Amino acid sequence: METIEFEHPVARSILTRLRDRHTQPDEFRKLAYRLGFMLAVEATRNIGTLPLSVETPMEKTFGETYSQYPVILPVMRAGLALLAPFQELLPESPVAFIAMKRDEETGEAEWLYDSLPDLNGKDLIILDPMMATAGTATSIIDYVLEKGVESISLISIVAAPEGIFRLRKYNDLTFITVSVDRELDENWFILPGLGDFGDRLYQGN
Ligand code: PRP
Ligand code: URA
Repeated sequence: METIEFEHPVARSILTRLRDRHTQPDEFRKLAYRLGFMLAVEATRNIGTLPLSVETPMEKTFGETYSQYPVILPVMRAGLALLAPFQELLPESPVAFIAMKRDEETGEAEWLYDSLPDLNGKDLIILDPMMATAGTATSIIDYVLEKGVESISLISIVAAPEGIFRLRKYNDLTFITVSVDRELDENWFILPGLGDFGDRLYQGN
């Protein structure tokens, strides 16, 4: 696995406002969109392109165009916050959906729903802002590997060291996060973290 800690002062500033317990859902969603757009730029850094000729007002020259749109997979609920900014940059990407919910007693992620296009041979970008135990991420990665995906990028905003340790077994995974936080608490929440991302997006604290 390649781990990329996304280093950018604007990203760090946005994350600080996301962490703030006083940030309400309306602002939280806007901040998540802005950060999502920055992460989309980073996640598409190595996207394949083909040469394309173009005529400027001055003369003919050569440019590039994307050769393949990756499939975007937001993990519901929290991952939905990052879907719109990724679609802004990748408007022709097919979108796959998976909904998972962690059991509050056991911390185990339960599979609730999926709707997936053909993934065989595709590059896949999984969006899930919080990566805690990595139970959610490993369930999804194992599933999509069986469907024949070519490459996987997992995009998060805050990650726990415990989860990153668990993801090391995936050789071909690119993991991008804004922050690797300190640890998980006894309820598998990230410290210092930002609380429950889905609740902060849609319900408040
Ligand atoms: C949260 C988060 C991740 C998952 C991470 O979702 O959005 O999907 O927990 O935890 P893990 O790494 O320990 O699996 P949650 O299950 O709370 O659902 P939600 O998105 O609806 O809030
Ligand atoms: N999911 C969240 O939303 N927050 C955490 O701290 C851990 C998992």
